[in-house]
Amino acid sequence: MAELKDRTPVEDWSTDFDHFDAAFIADPDSVWSALRTNAPVAHSNRYGGMNVLTRWEDVAAAAQDPSQFSSRRIVINELPTSHPGLPLPPINSDPPDHTAKRRVMLPFFNPVATKRWEEPVREICRRALDTIGDRTDIDLAVDYAQVIPAELTAIMLGVPLADVPQFRVWLHDLLEVGPTDIDVARDTSNVMLDYMRGLLEQRRAEPGDDLVTFLLDQRIDDQPIPDRELLNMLFLLLIAGIDTTWSGIGFSLMHLAGHAEDRHRLAAEPALIPTAVEEFLRFYPPVWVARVAQADTEIGGRPITAGEWVLLGFPAANRDPEVVDRPDEVIIDRQANRHAAFGLGIHRCLGSNLARMEMIVAVEEFLARYPDFELSDPDAILLAPGQVRGPRRIPARILNQA
Ligand code: HEM
Repeated sequence: MAELKDRTPVEDWSTDFDHFDAAFIADPDSVWSALRTNAPVAHSNRYGGMNVLTRWEDVAAAAQDPSQFSSRRIVINELPTSHPGLPLPPINSDPPDHTAKRRVMLPFFNPVATKRWEEPVREICRRALDTIGDRTDIDLAVDYAQVIPAELTAIMLGVPLADVPQFRVWLHDLLEVGPTDIDVARDTSNVMLDYMRGLLEQRRAEPGDDLVTFLLDQRIDDQPIPDRELLNMLFLLLIAGIDTTWSGIGFSLMHLAGHAEDRHRLAAEPALIPTAVEEFLRFYPPVWVARVAQADTEIGGRPITAGEWVLLGFPAANRDPEVVDRPDEVIIDRQANRHAAFGLGIHRCLGSNLARMEMIVAVEEFLARYPDFELSDPDAILLAPGQVRGPRRIPARILNQA
């Protein structure tokens, strides 16, 4: 696995924001909150210039205006925004191209299609719990959360579970190290594209009942999707579905391990788990993305320069007191719960049904087997850096098995 390089530390967050700064990685929420209050449209010269949006209103306005704020690059890195990067449809497509690229994927991810994966997810969870067995010292991230979306993705792609450890290394290198080390990003992308190329060749020769065959069968304007686009779509699905969801599951269990009252209530009232999961998504949103400003413009009265990054601070927006009541509290039975964890506007997460189902099933199965558990070493919790953020290590102790 590649290692993160040292960065020049940030001294003033309102003028020099850097999401790869060690202090931000350790505690992003106090930075988001201070910016929302004191500098809601902050500017930083890092990464070629970026603007950090932290108010719900500004984040929503930019997310809903793809003509001014392009999705052609959404993961901030050291490559200038004029560079095309690796365009992954539909997440890097702008209208009108976006509509058709998104539409072809929809049938695989709608609520009915998602149902099909519920039983396989339960089986994955139970297998992971069986592997934990009678152990009392476990890692909620490594032993459980990580396993679920990675194995589900392998099943959806129709590849052996033996490929899963490789997925994890790729995701780490691409998302946690790649943004600040272009060579690592490029090398990892090339290896992943070769893997996808192999899958396409295999399924062309021998179709299966899987995501690769599904995409091969789709048509846009009556034409098959060109191979280059298919490769990039598969690449996106591999990175979009694994560590996002694993982070969501990890945050949920981390919260429960650290909050006995919520844990006991959910163990006693499993029907409340879907509502609680929604609150975990609001309070601990694993993803935030960027746009590229297409022309000189303004947001919230602050000038934005063409070609600069515009960060949509979903975690900050989710705790904006203008739209959320008691935003800094986790209320597991919160009823009205508008949040931006899955994005806002035309790029809203295509996998949200699947992700929610995985999170709910993961929490249900865990609590059914281990109704009581706690953090064993809170200082050893390790959070991933980058725009997909979540716990990568959560040492915990099982207190009571069902
Ligand atoms: C808790 C888990 C997840 C979170 C928090 C999450 C978050 C997001 C966010 C914030 C966006 C919007 C990006 C933007 O505006 O540029 C997005 C888009 C997307 N997500 Fe997810 N995601 C999750 C799981 C998944 C899963 C499981 C899949 C599929 C396997 C998936 C596939 C996608 C795709 C294809 C898009 C692009 C949609 C478009 O551009 O029209 N996501 N996701």
